[in-house]
Amino acid sequence: MQTSAEIWRLLVRASADRRHPWRVVALCTQGEQGPAARSVILRKVQEDNRRLVFYTDRRTDKLREVAACDRVALLCWDAHHRQQLRLTGRAFLETDMAVVDRCWTGVPDAAKRDYGTTQAPGSPLITKDAAGADFTLALAREHFTVLNVEVAEFEFLQLDREQHQRWRHSWREAAGAWEAQPLVP
Ligand SMILES: Cc1cc2nc3c(=O)[nH]c(=O)nc-3n(C[C@H](O)[C@H](O)[C@H](O)COP(=O)(O)O)c2cc1C
Repeated sequence: MQTSAEIWRLLVRASADRRHPWRVVALCTQGEQGPAARSVILRKVQEDNRRLVFYTDRRTDKLREVAACDRVALLCWDAHHRQQLRLTGRAFLETDMAVVDRCWTGVPDAAKRDYGTTQAPGSPLITKDAAGADFTLALAREHFTVLNVEVAEFEFLQLDREQHQRWRHSWREAAGAWEAQPLVP
């Protein structure tokens, strides 16, 4: 069995290791037309406040969707270890600008360009160089934002030829602890 502490350790490792398969997470929101999923990079993990941290462009659809409904689902799959992790929680934008600035400082220069498009991500491409001949770091910084997800529950599935294992871990606010429940896989 993987305890909740062990799962959080795995998530911390995934956020720090570029090759860890759990670093690319499917983030699912409630879209206008139904569920919407996309890959995002897990940037930081804060076990003490149950937070997963992602970077994105404030003009993206996912943020419009989170503003309308902050309940999100996340999905990770490690094919090598045959481990699936499903999480649910509440998404919200980071409001501490000092934190956002620190995150921005850590973004490699080449990746900063991704935030500098003059047209919003997902809008019809009008100019050939939407990435912006008139790219400025200041504009890119304006578009950059940090999305937190406070995890309420997660479910770990270990595939195993002998015996699959499935555990649900639910946050119990009153106890200030995770409650683990084995499930029929
Ligand atoms: C491997 C991979 C990693 C990605 N990482 C991020 C990310 O960290 N943040 C982000 O906003 N988009 C990331 N994207 C792009 C998103 O999947 C998505 O296309 C984009 O954010 C627009 O999504 P939306 O229109 O649903 O908001 C990544 C895509 C891939 C394939």
